Amino acid sequence: MVHCVYFSACGTVSSYVHAYVSGLPGQTDARFLNWAGREDRIPLELGHDDILVFAMPVYGGFIPSFCAALVPLLHGSSTPAAVLAVYGNRHYDNALVQMDELLARQGFETKAAAALSARHSIFPSVASGRPDDKDREEARQFASMFDPQGKSVSSMLPGDRSADPSVFRGTPFHPEADESCTGCMRCVSVCPVSAISRENVRTSYKAVCISCGRCIVSCPAGARGYRGEEYRQSGEVFLKKNGERKENVFFPAAVQDRR
Ligand SMILES: Cc1cc2nc3c(=O)[nH]c(=O)nc-3n(C[C@H](O)[C@H](O)[C@H](O)COP(=O)(O)O)c2cc1C
Repeated sequence: MVHCVYFSACGTVSSYVHAYVSGLPGQTDARFLNWAGREDRIPLELGHDDILVFAMPVYGGFIPSFCAALVPLLHGSSTPAAVLAVYGNRHYDNALVQMDELLARQGFETKAAAALSARHSIFPSVASGRPDDKDREEARQFASMFDPQGKSVSSMLPGDRSADPSVFRGTPFHPEADESCTGCMRCVSVCPVSAISRENVRTSYKAVCISCGRCIVSCPAGARGYRGEEYRQSGEVFLKKNGERKENVFFPAAVQDRR
């Protein structure tokens, strides 16, 4: 059985995961666990015949720290894994090697990996509309080559295995609600890290908020967002630097090379 474990706050990781799984050869039975929801953070015991698809967004060049802390929930037994790092068109830095290391400790073997570009969840004008049809098709094609008995790709993955994920301390930007907030509390219930209180629903606890944007995309009134001049200016600079389309990268090989 295919077990997909991922964190998707704003939907791009989820979109890539579904495209990827739809391309896996001979697989009809898949289970999807999005760690954005507490109910999906359950222990998993996988065997040699299972497949793990582990997909994470890149935050500051690593995977979100609360997700790294949840990896010990996963137990493999030389279980083949496909590792997907989804990043907002800047760079994936050390995320692939970090995932590979974390999973190896839990009994998984990385047999395929990809760095996939997607809409930036803090600056959504960067890579807006991605993943698009081309991205999803590439993910499907890449999955169709998955060989559970194939060689590990660990040694091919770029990144610094000794890099310290704690160097990323989050962004200065945190979502707030404007006066159109109806106080429905949906943001309180969907926040993956409990950064919004019932008493003060329009702001977020800055020390807890990971700026994932789940409250923004879930707000039925469209009341939540990033605000302020500093955010606006940073967005402009970020777009200038990272506006150009980055192509997806696949290990063991580029999809195009294998067609
Ligand atoms: C706190 C934070 C840090 C991020 N850091 C990076 C980064 O280092 N490189 C990058 O290219 N994108 C970065 N992103 C963008 C996300 O990786 C990207 O938007 C991803 O597609 C989000 O997945 P989702 O739509 O499933 O939530 C960051 C986003 C957040 C919220």
